[in-house]
Amino acid sequence: MGIVENDAAGARTIQVVASAEELARVAADAMVRHAADAIRERGRFIVALSGGSTPTSLFRLLAQPPLAERIDWRHVHVCWGDERCVSPADARSNYRMACDALLDHVPIPAAQVHRMRGEDVPAVAAAAYETELRELFHLPGPQNRNFAAYDLILLGLGDDGHTASLFPHGLALHEQSRWVVADYVKAVSMWRITFTLPLINASRAVLFLVAGAGKAHVVRQILSVSTPAQSLPAARVGPSRGRLHWIVDGAAAAKWPGSPDAP
Ligand code: 6PG
Repeated sequence: MGIVENDAAGARTIQVVASAEELARVAADAMVRHAADAIRERGRFIVALSGGSTPTSLFRLLAQPPLAERIDWRHVHVCWGDERCVSPADARSNYRMACDALLDHVPIPAAQVHRMRGEDVPAVAAAAYETELRELFHLPGPQNRNFAAYDLILLGLGDDGHTASLFPHGLALHEQSRWVVADYVKAVSMWRITFTLPLINASRAVLFLVAGAGKAHVVRQILSVSTPAQSLPAARVGPSRGRLHWIVDGAAAAKWPGSPDAP
């Protein structure tokens, strides 16, 4: 396994790894590198975490030596790319998952953990989160039409092509000026708060983490054509001035013609 595609501009890299465990190790090394580079160059590392189950093993690796000691948590700010509209104590909360697996075990200052308030009225929570992020990035809004340039945004991939909480046919997909919006997602029968595409695509780097045979069909749909269906939200992620890196395990890459193990 290894890097199987690196486009000419080096803007998109696809890396196929043997297993979900190796995906976690490769992603953890990438996180450490991104953090070190950002802190060296800009004095801090601002990262947005993804939710769901895939990143859990990554977070657990980052929470323990030796990797935990390779990140200078004093200069790290953690955000979320999306959240379920539930209490932070709810088992479905992306915040709770990240705290259980990582943030409760590393010395990150509490004020540098920027939680989406899933327990609040969704639209209010989304607007409040955008205000908090604008303060973090020193980009007062909303008249300021700039989008924050995250050092790194982690993303997962749903089997329907969703990413963050940008789902097919969702209203959030069409947002072009706000950074964060709330959307009722019929597919999961719940309200979600999510980064918008322009905010994601303003990032310096986006890292997709995809594992499992259940994602093989959608990975092929997105990675095997030069112009994938724009109805698939994840296909619309492409940082305009940043790098896009896919780390996909063998099971999820099984139907992708570019995979080393492709039939
Ligand atoms: C969420 C995520 C979502 C997730 C994908 C993949 O809140 O659910 O942000 O976009 O990354 O659904 O989820 P799994 O890792 O559980 O397959």
